[in-house]
Amino acid sequence: MILILSHDCPASLLDDVVRECERQGWRCTVSRGTEQTLVTLEGSGDPEQLDAAFRDRPEVDVLPILSQREYRYLRGRRRLLAGLAGGLGALTALGAGLPIAGFLMPPKGAVSDRNLVRVAGREEVKERSGKKVTLLGKPVILVRMERDRWFALSAICTHMNICQLDWHEERRELVCPCHGGAFDVYGNVVQGPPSIPLATYPVERVGDELFVRREG
Ligand code: FES
Repeated sequence: MILILSHDCPASLLDDVVRECERQGWRCTVSRGTEQTLVTLEGSGDPEQLDAAFRDRPEVDVLPILSQREYRYLRGRRRLLAGLAGGLGALTALGAGLPIAGFLMPPKGAVSDRNLVRVAGREEVKERSGKKVTLLGKPVILVRMERDRWFALSAICTHMNICQLDWHEERRELVCPCHGGAFDVYGNVVQGPPSIPLATYPVERVGDELFVRREG
């Protein structure tokens, strides 16, 4: 099981939550991120009792997760499949990457396309780094790779559609803090538990400004 609280939840609330979980027989691991605070639970507690304890507390989200055994099994299987699909994946990634990487020439005039939403200035994102931006109220990660290749992907992990992904510079992947799922810059799953790719958006650079093309 996993509990999600806001990133700036007061220490007293976190203490209350941990105390209640431990009282129910769970071992707690707390990690505070920039977007959320996670309390990962292991042990012999009863998920229904846990759910009941926090049902009336909107500040605490209780998520069911797989048992450690199930999770390890699925993760191993998915890694194997990812390995088998590697060669093919690289080819599809090349094809899939083209529409979402923007290589625009310097501007010839003002941007008049109403479907383009400005999300950042070019200098705000260093090479090989990512920046969280908002596209029509949804969190999106804008990634800049070498040679000014840009990618924009939904920042919501497709495993449970709740946890927000972080950009991992060394791995060059978007990584989920909830159960370790990971995606490449094309949105492909590279590590489970998620099995559904991330939504991607076309990025266009106009001079030193970056725009993401909204859907529809
Ligand atoms: S929510 Fe489980 S891996 Fe992201």
